[in-house]
Amino acid sequence: MKPTVIRSIKSQQKLSRQIIASGKTIAIVPTMGFLHDGHLSLIKKAKVKADLVVTTIFVNPTQFAPHEDFDRYPRDTKNDIRKIGSVGGQIVFMPRADEIYPDNFQSWVVVDKLTGLLEGASRPNHFRGVTTIVSKLYNIVRPDYAIFGMKDYQQAMVLKRMTSDLNWPIKFIIAPTVREPDGLAMSSRNKYLSGAHRSEATALIKALRFGRKMVRAGEMSASEIKREMKKIITKSAPSGLIDYITLTDMDSLETVRNIRGKTVASLAVKFGKVRLIDNILLK
Ligand code: PAF
Repeated sequence: MKPTVIRSIKSQQKLSRQIIASGKTIAIVPTMGFLHDGHLSLIKKAKVKADLVVTTIFVNPTQFAPHEDFDRYPRDTKNDIRKIGSVGGQIVFMPRADEIYPDNFQSWVVVDKLTGLLEGASRPNHFRGVTTIVSKLYNIVRPDYAIFGMKDYQQAMVLKRMTSDLNWPIKFIIAPTVREPDGLAMSSRNKYLSGAHRSEATALIKALRFGRKMVRAGEMSASEIKREMKKIITKSAPSGLIDYITLTDMDSLETVRNIRGKTVASLAVKFGKVRLIDNILLK
């Protein structure tokens, strides 16, 4: 069925009020559009949880630095709406940027410690934009459930912290990364990889899986694991520029030297102008 498209904040607030008054539940799936199967898996998960699924599409300008790809970020709203309908999403909330950020907007939501490393270190102010827009979407949509993907692992952990710290009565759900058959994590940015870069990009998951294999074989030194992962990327993706390869504690996101508890390996690699991120649970 074709979903209902809502563009104004007032209309979304009115609908959410009605749904809540009728005793039904709402799930939110925040996106920046250009949807792929990873996004659709989040909507399907949301459908299982709640009566009404609101998928938001908003390419959020405040999470991009001036030199980043805001203008080039892929957009295809017509197809997005069709895809959302195909998995049973009922509402698409697509606010206008000037309504979300009116003139003189000056209030921000900031999560401290968790945003200082990995993506936060490479992209200052990125998470301030993410946490602010998600807070605004929470306040407008008033969901009972919020669903985010594991591919943006740090983002998921930051938003989980924020949701809990600010006492939103929202069940926070993190869904597994959906991958292409050759293992590349699905991402709206994959579309911009050249043919050669697209084949080299499988080096990311190769390196991550090799890291996990090392841990399973008993290697606990983070520097050893990182060294081997780096070798794989350098060899299989010679045009990739490694931004970081980091091993962190799964919950605190603190860097680990020796693997003891649950540890995630995360990496970011740039192919030309396209920056890809991925991660894997090592242990
Ligand atoms: O992951 C994304 O697509 C965005 O960062 C999000 C969570 C929709 C906020 O703009």
